[in-house]
Order: sequence, then C-alpha cells, then structure tokens
Amino acid sequence: MRILSGIQPTGSIHIGNYLGAIKQWVELQEKNECVFFIADLHSLTIPYQPENLQKNIIEAAIAHFAAGIDPQKTVFFVQSEVKEHTELCWLLNSVCPVGDLERMIQYKEKTRQFKQNINAGLLIYPVLQAADILLYKTDAVPVGKDQVQHIELTRAIARKFNQRFGKTFQEPKALLPKMGAKIMALNNPRQKMSKSSSPQNYISLFESPEEIKKKIMSAVTDTGKKIKYEPKRKPGISNLLTIYSLFSGKSIKELEKTFQSKGYGFLKKSLTELLTNFLEPFRRKRKELLIREVFVRETLKIGAKRARNIAQFTIQETRSKMGLI
Ligand code: TYM
Repeated sequence: MRILSGIQPTGSIHIGNYLGAIKQWVELQEKNECVFFIADLHSLTIPYQPENLQKNIIEAAIAHFAAGIDPQKTVFFVQSEVKEHTELCWLLNSVCPVGDLERMIQYKEKTRQFKQNINAGLLIYPVLQAADILLYKTDAVPVGKDQVQHIELTRAIARKFNQRFGKTFQEPKALLPKMGAKIMALNNPRQKMSKSSSPQNYISLFESPEEIKKKIMSAVTDTGKKIKYEPKRKPGISNLLTIYSLFSGKSIKELEKTFQSKGYGFLKKSLTELLTNFLEPFRRKRKELLIREVFVRETLKIGAKRARNIAQFTIQETRSKMGLI
C-alpha cells in the first residue's frame, strides 16, 4: 500500500502525536511504501514567528528520526520543498464547494481560537491537505481522530474530480489506531492534547524526567478514588490509563486490577517512571541528531527529490485532464 501522512511544525511534538500517528507510521514503514512530511505550508495559517520556522522544521524532522522513522525506508520531506502540493491545491480548489470547507470542525475551532487572524488559508487548509494526499495516489492515511473529517473531504474531492474530468484519483482511507486516536490534555481531559496550546497540556517526546514528573503528578483527575476506565464520567483517569496501556502494552483491564486499591498517586508515580524510561532513548537520539544538522538537512533534501519524482507525474496527468498544457 502507499501510505501518506503529515504533521505541522507548530510546537513540540507530544505523546498524543506519537500515539495517534507517528507510532503507526513507524510500524507501517516496514511493509509499505510510505510518504511522510512536515506540513510547513499548513502551519502558516495560524500566528507564528518566521524567524523560528526553520528551527521548528528541523526539530520536527529530528523528532521523527528519533522516534523511529527511517528515511531509507520512507520518503520524508518538507512540504514547501515540493511545489506540486500548492499547484494541485489550486487545481482542486475549483472542484471543492466553499460550503464543505465552512463545515469543517477544525476551521470552526481555529476561527474561534484566532479571531484576529481569520485568513483565507484557514478555509482552504483542507484542500491543501487533499492535494498532499491525492498527489501521491495514496491508499491509506494514518492519523488521529481529529483528521478524519479532512480525509472524508479528500475522498469527496477525489470523487468530484473523477466525475468531472475522468478517473484520476483514488479515494484514500483513514487509518486510526484502535486506541490512542484522541489523547486528551493533561490539564483539561475534556480537550484534546494539542501542541498549539499551553505546554501544561502535553508531554513532549523529549520532556525531561523532572518535567514528566511535574506534569503527570499535576494532571487533572476526577472526583472519587476509584481507578476505572470510564471516559465520559472519569475523563482524567481514563486518559492516564490509555496512555499507560499504550506505552506499557498492558491492557486497561489489567491496569484497573493492578491499581484498583492503590489510588491515583500511586498510578501517577508508576506512569511517570514508565514514560521517563520509554522516552529516554528518544532524548538520547535527539541529542545525537542535534549536532548533525547538516545530515538532517541533506536527508530532507533527498526526501524532497524522491517526493517530486512521484508528484510531477500526478501533476502532469491532472493538468492534462483539466485541459491545461
Ligand atoms: P497535526 O500536526 O495537528 O497532528 C499530527 C498528527 O497527530 C495526530 N494528533 C493526535 N492523535 C491523538 N491524540 C491527540 N491529542 C492528537 N493530536 C494530534 C493528528 O491526528 C495527526 O495525525 N492537518 C494535519 C497535518 C497534515 C496532514 C496532511 C495529515 C497536513 N497534510 C495530509 C495527513 C495527511 C495536522 O494538522 O496534524
């Protein structure tokens, strides 16, 4: 299968991104043709500092390599280095109804969050995402739950294009992990863990042991002392159990049994230890890669070249179907 996914360089990559997306990517690269990229063009739609963007892109690349993405097995690159993404976005704009874009949950959320900066890019955002996906004739897109609506729109755009101009694109499916598709914020377990919100809501992949301890020990839990997985009634403890289960490989049932009589404090201490140990090799690999920035940049360049080879073919086909030369 051809697998594709992307991530925005908008802040520290956290355990939600890892459990919802990157962990699947690392597994999928073993048996599939994978294309993964840093969606820097998407990140321009929310307020950012231009002088920090390159540093964030390099940090994001390092995070992926440290977490197990192998650029030998996978095409890994920066979106803006492959101009075909923006060209296909423009071509697809003409088959995507504005009404569909206005209905997107993330568009509504972002226009609420960034009231002072409701730019056209925020609205077009999902068309660029559809272009990312369709450009590579993707079969499946491994993502967290928040991206499912964007994949559905991509399918609709592919269908509309094919109806109007003849079969060109295939409809990709979303690949969600069975568990961990929506990790919740530590300081507010009714909201999604997010890299564009306060650092108190997430644990980054490279968090220091001291910070992991601080954040887990102060994670919001629920009233009552019972350790039970009930996401609606007990979102805080259920979120911690989910994280525990995914990092330890133990089932929720097993964890409920182990911690049942021990209380929240004990569970949090044990989770702190688990995360500290699990993330230690990530921290070590990041350190090694930080001093090899030239290698990282070179790897991204090679990735972009490989991506362009696939993308150019689709662009030519699309242009010709639409009557362009
Ligand atoms: P982004 O950068 O917000 O997130 C990257 C990936 O992490 C997943 N994710 C989560 N999973 C579980 N729990 C969470 N709390 C959590 N937060 C984030 C996201 O679902 C995503 O899979 N629009 C995309 C980037 C993009 C893209 C694409 C993705 C651009 N083009 C083409 C797939 C295909 C985004 O903003 O992801």
